[in-house]
Amino acid sequence: VEFENILLDQHGRLGVLTLNRPGALNALNTETFREIAEALDLVMENATIEALIVTGQGDKAFAAGADISELAQLDSAFAARDLSLAGQDVFQTLSTLPIPTVAVINGYALGGGLELALAADVRVAHPRAKLGLPEVTLGLIPGYGGTQRLPRLIGVGRALDLMLSGRQVDAQEALGMGLVNYVEEAPLEFAREYLSRLLDRGGPMAFGLIKEAVRRGMDTSLSDALEIEADMFGMVLATQDAKEGTRAFLEKRKANFKGE
Ligand code: HXC
Repeated sequence: VEFENILLDQHGRLGVLTLNRPGALNALNTETFREIAEALDLVMENATIEALIVTGQGDKAFAAGADISELAQLDSAFAARDLSLAGQDVFQTLSTLPIPTVAVINGYALGGGLELALAADVRVAHPRAKLGLPEVTLGLIPGYGGTQRLPRLIGVGRALDLMLSGRQVDAQEALGMGLVNYVEEAPLEFAREYLSRLLDRGGPMAFGLIKEAVRRGMDTSLSDALEIEADMFGMVLATQDAKEGTRAFLEKRKANFKGE
């Protein structure tokens, strides 16, 4: 499939979705969102893609946010609400993929760009990356999940600091607050090796169920969440992967997972 604003490549077991509007610092316009949604559908249908990397073209930006020229044209509360819901929906699709996902933050991740990175499982940043939710400086608020995913990831106090000030943090500060997991000079290569290792070691069914247990658990009370965990544990135990993984350990050999 040919896209205009993104690239979708496959390297062995890894899918790589690259935002490709470097002239606009990969700002996310409506068409780009539509293409990301289509690419995520393709990833879901393609059983040979076992993990996904999301990154930005060029060495300057991951994504500098929603396309401000589109935001400036919004002329009603309904249109703005719909834009927010539509973007949230695409990022929720990313976050609910049953495969491991890594955001490779190769430069600016601002506003909607950071919100995209927040929908991935793990974040790897280049040392020169700058992250933030500057919406407040436009008189706006985050609208693609930032007010909700950021406090869940780094805590309410840190999230409010970033959103109320609109300030940018560098990769090191982001690492310190748990906003990114790793800071690497070659973040894309790191992410590819990281995911390859992870796919070599872990059971595919377990990846999906870990993500589902964490995501659903964050939405509810601890006691309900523990029940969700037990449900997921029951489901994983019924998989061939679990039989193979435990048997391989006892037989002192490497597990050969089939993802079923
Ligand atoms: C549209 C953008 C853009 C954006 C950059 N560009 N960010 N276009 N939307 N979000 C364009 C610039 O207009 C410029 O185009 C080109 O990309 C290069 O950007 P410069 O500003 O010239 O680069 P630089 O001076 O190096 O500054 C980099 C920057 C700055 C600090 C990242 O571009 C910036 O502050 N961008 C906006 C960041 C932001 O506020 N994001 C939040 C958006 S709101 P030309 O044609 O002049 O070369 C948001 C809300 C989400 O995300 C929720 C919605 C529901």
